[in-house]
Amino acid sequence: MPNPYDPQTPARPEYFGGREPVLKRLRERIEMAKEHKKSGGVLIYGHRGVGKTSLINKIISEMAGTEEKPSDILIINRRLGRTTNDQELYRILCEELILQVNKRKNIVEKMKSMAKNINGISLFNIGVERSNVEPNRSSYHIWRTYIENLKDVKLILIAIDDADWLSIEAIGELKTIVEEISTIPILLTISGFIDFEEKLVDKYSPVARIFSGASFNIGRFSLEETKEVICKPLVNEKTKWEDEAITILHKVTGGYPYLVQCLASASYSDGNTINISRVKENIKQAVKIGQSWLDHEIPDASDQDVISFAKITNLNKDIVQSIEISKVGVSPPYVGRLVKLRILKKLRRGRYSIEKSPMIATFELLKRELTIT
Ligand SMILES: Nc1ncnc2c1ncn2[C@@H]1O[C@H](COP(=O)(O)OP(=O)(O)OP(=O)(O)O)[C@@H](O)[C@H]1O
Ligand SMILES: [Mg+2]
Repeated sequence: MPNPYDPQTPARPEYFGGREPVLKRLRERIEMAKEHKKSGGVLIYGHRGVGKTSLINKIISEMAGTEEKPSDILIINRRLGRTTNDQELYRILCEELILQVNKRKNIVEKMKSMAKNINGISLFNIGVERSNVEPNRSSYHIWRTYIENLKDVKLILIAIDDADWLSIEAIGELKTIVEEISTIPILLTISGFIDFEEKLVDKYSPVARIFSGASFNIGRFSLEETKEVICKPLVNEKTKWEDEAITILHKVTGGYPYLVQCLASASYSDGNTINISRVKENIKQAVKIGQSWLDHEIPDASDQDVISFAKITNLNKDIVQSIEISKVGVSPPYVGRLVKLRILKKLRRGRYSIEKSPMIATFELLKRELTIT
């Protein structure tokens, strides 16, 4: 079997592990939306490489149904990679909607031609002639026309990955999309960077309400989650991990999903049992694997800065008080350095937010072979 661990791509849904509380909540929300026709939103946010895209892919793959029985949920999934305003957002949604409707049409036709039973399969009928939808109308209007006429869809699941790219106007439209247009329930799932939720609450509180009670800050894996992630690809395989080897891997990587994949990938040995010493011997190799992505995050940090950063991240908080920082032994001049390096950002009333992923602290400690006392 080729090495199943890969830090550079989101997890394949069949290898996805952990995150049970979030998945459970997502499933509940989807059920609720279907059963009670209740639209709503789910926000997934967190630092770089923590598994936002993997989580979205996982829930989508669960909701897509099977080849024989594709689901009654119309799934619109887009990752953003550049600033997207409201018009573009509607355009993207329309584009994806048409794509999914056509895809369903093709699947159904193929099944028919193979004389398969298509009873109970949603046909996703768009309900209007596309040529009758005036192309010179606004994208909002076109989206609205589609949504109002759409037939045989139980739920629309919209997923927007990396929603940080949405413009202020586009963020404002999220509320319209969820609450105002549709008679078909819409579940909007979006992912964003660590500061996304705070930004929403601060600047767009009416929009933030869509996600109230359903915002998830995803972070490190627990030991149990790490075990699941490591073992899942190896069911029915000869390759095994000793329990203690996974415990060490979890400890060394801090449970940061990207680093877990780096060290698992470095330690993998096809057909063998992976033990503690194999993991330890491969830490350097894991650092090498992670370097392409993580090496340029804090190029000007000294060893002392890295140690201060790591001590603060050990508090396991996104926002820390000056007093907590001094308690872990980082004095004001060092705090000043971390602010300069943009690792910390000074907020009001003696509070600091951690701007760089705490994973970077763990990575730098490993790379520089430093330990904190
Ligand atoms: N639940 C999970 N199970 C297994 N592997 C995971 C899981 N979550 C994340 N990973 C692994 O962690 C790495 C980063 O995941 P992913 O790309 O989903 O993170 P992200 O938060 O979307 O990152 P970015 O900030 O770059 O968008 C990948 O190697 C992925 O395989
Ligand atoms: Mg991502």
